[in-house]
Amino acid sequence: MQLAKNMTKQEAKKKINQLSEQLRKHNHNYYILSQPTISDYDYDMMLKELEALEKQYPEFKDKNSPTQRVGTDRDNDFVQVKHEYPMLSLGNTYNLGELQDFDNRIKKILGEEAQYKYSCELKYDGTAISIKYQNGKFFQAVTRGDGTQGDDVSENVKTIRSIPLQLQGNDYPEKFEIRGEIIMPHKVFEQLNKEREDVGEQPFANPRNAASGSIKMKNSKDVAKRKLDAFLYFLLGEELPSDSHYENLNFAKKWGFKISDDRKLAKNINEVFEFINFWDKERENLPYDIDGIVIKVDSKKLQDELGFTGKSPRWAISYKFKAERVASKLLSIDYQVGRTGAITPVANLEPVQLAGTTVKRASLHNADIIKELDIRINDIVFVEKGGEIIPKIVGVDKSKRDSSSKEVKYITHCPECKTELVREEGEAKHYCPNEFTCPPQIKGKMEHFVSRKAMDINCGEATINALFNAGHLKNISDFYKLKYEHIFELEGFKEKSAKNLLESIEQSKKVPFERVLFALGIRFVGSTVAKILAKSFKNIKKLEKASVEELAQVDEIGERIAKSVFNFFRNEKNIEIIKDLKNAGLQFEMLEVEGETEILKGKKIVISGTFAKYSRNELKKMIEQNGGKNTSSVSKSTDYFLAGEKVGPSKLEKVKKFNIKVISEDEFLNMIENS
Ligand code: IVH
Repeated sequence: MQLAKNMTKQEAKKKINQLSEQLRKHNHNYYILSQPTISDYDYDMMLKELEALEKQYPEFKDKNSPTQRVGTDRDNDFVQVKHEYPMLSLGNTYNLGELQDFDNRIKKILGEEAQYKYSCELKYDGTAISIKYQNGKFFQAVTRGDGTQGDDVSENVKTIRSIPLQLQGNDYPEKFEIRGEIIMPHKVFEQLNKEREDVGEQPFANPRNAASGSIKMKNSKDVAKRKLDAFLYFLLGEELPSDSHYENLNFAKKWGFKISDDRKLAKNINEVFEFINFWDKERENLPYDIDGIVIKVDSKKLQDELGFTGKSPRWAISYKFKAERVASKLLSIDYQVGRTGAITPVANLEPVQLAGTTVKRASLHNADIIKELDIRINDIVFVEKGGEIIPKIVGVDKSKRDSSSKEVKYITHCPECKTELVREEGEAKHYCPNEFTCPPQIKGKMEHFVSRKAMDINCGEATINALFNAGHLKNISDFYKLKYEHIFELEGFKEKSAKNLLESIEQSKKVPFERVLFALGIRFVGSTVAKILAKSFKNIKKLEKASVEELAQVDEIGERIAKSVFNFFRNEKNIEIIKDLKNAGLQFEMLEVEGETEILKGKKIVISGTFAKYSRNELKKMIEQNGGKNTSSVSKSTDYFLAGEKVGPSKLEKVKKFNIKVISEDEFLNMIENS
């Protein structure tokens, strides 16, 4: 680290202010907007620089400096729980020399002749979780929060299949806590982002943000769909089986926890270096992200002896990998148009080798980021492949800027159809508003329409393209006007394949209303929202007529979705397409399902606590099947409070305040059975 040796006091003060300001902004980008604009490495370096300066000039240190907080992920809607053992962070380094210093420190404290080993583990790049088990059963899962207290996200965590609810064997302690990382594997992440982009939602910047966003969702049903995974790496409790941390993890594995096999018990720091070198390369082949290696003194006794400094243990450290980064010349920028008309700028680069592949293109996200990073054509830019799958531009080497550099003039018109672009307030992206004749938008809508979760028509991108170019597909309703000849004449089609496609189109007429609604491709209406709308409005006529207010009254439908749905039906072209689809025989109303009643019609019910007979999800289903609504938070419009055991105190307070009728599980079951 470069120290501020030849700085004047005044300069140091200025630099401290500057760094604090920048770090606060990046913190916001990262934690609030989930849109980091610099790499973790750069962020950590900035933080370290500030730490060093504050140490040298304590008189300029602010008590709210970015160095004074670790960030919090607390959320008021979850019950807050105090950690029995605080959840600390780890000291980190990017530098093998500092790792040697770490080992020297340990040796100094424990004594030259002390025998100790290091447990080397992967540093999973996700979100930390602490789970308590009692008598072999899952008891409670809490997020890190501010390290002292976090959110009770038990219901959400229970949806993660790799986390056992009941342990195996009989040699586990009666009570213990296990900590680990909730992660989102690459495959799941890519699929999720594709779906988000499909409905016009902002994709997650990386799997870490996706994992932490998912575990804080209000509805555990939605969490379950996110297909999260978790690795556990730390046991806490009074009666752990071994003094060795490494051994304890082996035990945990036997009890049914997902414990990685990619661990090593190193006899000395050189073996730690070997482990690091191996994984620095090998991490490319893992199906999930790691951002470093964690090194822990293995013996619990020695850990206790070493103790803690302020916010981290003295017995552990993390070595962080640098995201692989190269420099290349920015030749030009292309602008891609998505299905919803969203414009994405993509950089064309002089080809360069990065993490084993040749990179020619990199993501530039949006106009703000280009401006913020001050990226210009012909600049030498830094390209990074970190957590993200697609390489991105993270900065500019301004020392190499010459007179050939040209400011980026962000496009004002659609590159495909020349329509003037619009940018709505609060949106990072520009949009092409010409949704009915802009080719990539039409084709994108068709691809969405035929997709598996929508109409499930067996028609690939190439076929759509060919039919579009031949003039047979102008909008989604044209699928139902296709004739055998139209398909047969396409390259690659034979009698059988043409008939199969027609048959698949015919079959799609049976697809239920909720999926047809999703297939229409209304902005912000993903498959879950489509289901909610279909259930509340029952048919397209009612949905068409609904006002923004009526739409927004539906549980889980916010203003943004309500407006988008309302606007969709105010467009004549959409109405025409729906008419054509109706005539073709598609399902535009919900079929009555057996067992459904309207006993709880219009009733808002909040479920809280744990129940003896049914799970919360099952109770929710019953409420919905009987026409009621399950809402997540208590308000004055709540009709019943369905209370189990261990109801959160803040909720109970509200129930009292609003004088809401409290019912037990049995009372609820009686209510729906008696009618
Ligand atoms: S041990 C007191 N082991 O990295 C030690 N942490 O900055 C507790 N992490 O908050 C942490 N992989 O979220 C440990 N194998 C691993 C880890 C790991 C990822 C995360 C964890 C922690 C952060 C440390």
